[in-house]
Amino acid sequence: MTKYYLTTAIDYVNGAPHIGHAYEKIQTDVLARHYRQRYDDVFFLTGTDEHGIKIQKTSAAMGITPKELCDANANKFKECWAGLDISYNKFIRTTDKDHEAIIQKIFKKLQDNGDIYKHSYTGLYCTGCESFLSPRDLTEDGLCPDHLKKPEEVKEENYFFKLSKYKDRLIEHIKNNPDFIQPAFRANEVLNQLEHIEDISVSRSKDSVSWGVPVLGDDTQTIYVWIDALSNYITALGYDPENPSENFKKYWPADVQVIGKDILKFHTIYWPAFLMALDIPLPKTVLAHGWITIDQTKMSKSIGNVIAPKDVMETFNLEHPDAFRYFMMVTAPTGRDGNYSDMEFKERVNADLANNIGNLLNRTLNMLVKYFDGEIKSDFITASDNEIAKEAQKTVESVKSRFDKFEVAEAAQEIVNFANVVNKYVNDTAPWSLAKEEKITECAQVLYNVLESMRFIGAILAPYCPNICQDIYEQLNREEKAVDVKLDNLRWGEIPAGKLTEKEKIKPVFLRLDSEIAGAAKKV
Ligand code: MSP
Repeated sequence: MTKYYLTTAIDYVNGAPHIGHAYEKIQTDVLARHYRQRYDDVFFLTGTDEHGIKIQKTSAAMGITPKELCDANANKFKECWAGLDISYNKFIRTTDKDHEAIIQKIFKKLQDNGDIYKHSYTGLYCTGCESFLSPRDLTEDGLCPDHLKKPEEVKEENYFFKLSKYKDRLIEHIKNNPDFIQPAFRANEVLNQLEHIEDISVSRSKDSVSWGVPVLGDDTQTIYVWIDALSNYITALGYDPENPSENFKKYWPADVQVIGKDILKFHTIYWPAFLMALDIPLPKTVLAHGWITIDQTKMSKSIGNVIAPKDVMETFNLEHPDAFRYFMMVTAPTGRDGNYSDMEFKERVNADLANNIGNLLNRTLNMLVKYFDGEIKSDFITASDNEIAKEAQKTVESVKSRFDKFEVAEAAQEIVNFANVVNKYVNDTAPWSLAKEEKITECAQVLYNVLESMRFIGAILAPYCPNICQDIYEQLNREEKAVDVKLDNLRWGEIPAGKLTEKEKIKPVFLRLDSEIAGAAKKV
């Protein structure tokens, strides 16, 4: 049995999901769906991060309890992920009772091992980051570089975690395991931060932060969000310091933990140090994605440019999320920042999904009906060593190796490049001329090559566009589901002889967003 365990960051629930949160969940979903086509047992975890000062303040300002705010917003995240076809296996909330109980035990174990001590402290706290910042982290004007707000000076007696004790082991781990931080160019940033690492506060006084898990045996202190939040990745599997569950033993260590570049330090310094202290193996890879801007501007409530996935769905009257999922995955090279604008979205999905892929299938099926009454005869079936078949098989291998490096955008480009090759092949061989010249077998074999190529494309594109690819499979009269195709079983020549389609059954799998037929879609 091969297993694969993936996680996303868990989102703060002080607001509703926007396309930046969606970017990460889609990226992880595409990885999960691809690995399901290769491995036996994939487990995909996501969820919400619900404790801390931010939730406490937002709910107080709204005149509701923190729990009411969490319930309402956690539901918005779940609905949003359902609308985007995010195929997670578990949704954890840090307010889940079983998670809270294990957090207390984890904290206790760290205390018993001597990794946590009490200490009086004056520090600069940024609520946006839910983190203390060192003066070195601030901008010249003394602001948090991510939130551009002045951190609050906090003087408290807190519990501290001996992060500095793990400094050398962390540096060694990062240097010896080039896969641990991906993309690799981010590793230096972490190594630089490690040079100045100090012990960190892991609790807040209950007087200042009451919305959180109390320290066992000291309810004047609340466990501060990062131990609580980061541990979700193991509590979700049923980790218990006294008695780790079967699921924990089966899935941990995580194969990839997907996060945004802004929380890299927490995932590649704090998290592995906590795991070392608990004597638990480290995740194999932490994959940091870039940030999504809107029209090249950072999304922010104050600018008023925050876009939710449903805004895009409504603007273009989309019946399923595939075009949005696809665009988000190709808008930037994996790991780099990307941009969303209505114009770029429309142009990109029209070019790739409608013109390149959708039209290719549509016109080929129409020719099959026109010249062969929609039927494949046994001499249409081509050998697996013809040039197009070889290109198709090579594309599957390139897509797999891109995914092995988590290069989701680049893998999509491999698929588009292959569709370009097939389009060129159709134009060069001109099956309509072959039909006119009565070169029947030649013409039929060209069409067969295209249909088989479309079957390959339907399988490898399914992680990005599960609905479109299912439609492709239905147009090809396939019984299996596109998302369920195991890539290792994808063999050339499996479209059988027999009736494949008829005129009434042919439907476009993706309409241009500005086409007349897409009709009700608003013109942007
Ligand atoms: N709760 C913490 C994470 C705890 S993980 C144990 C948190 N929450 S968040 O809601 O602020 O962000 C959740 C994820 O969304 C992060 O990985 C963050 O990088 C990502 N994004 C938030 N805004 C984003 C963009 N504009 N673009 C891309 N991703 C962004 O941090």
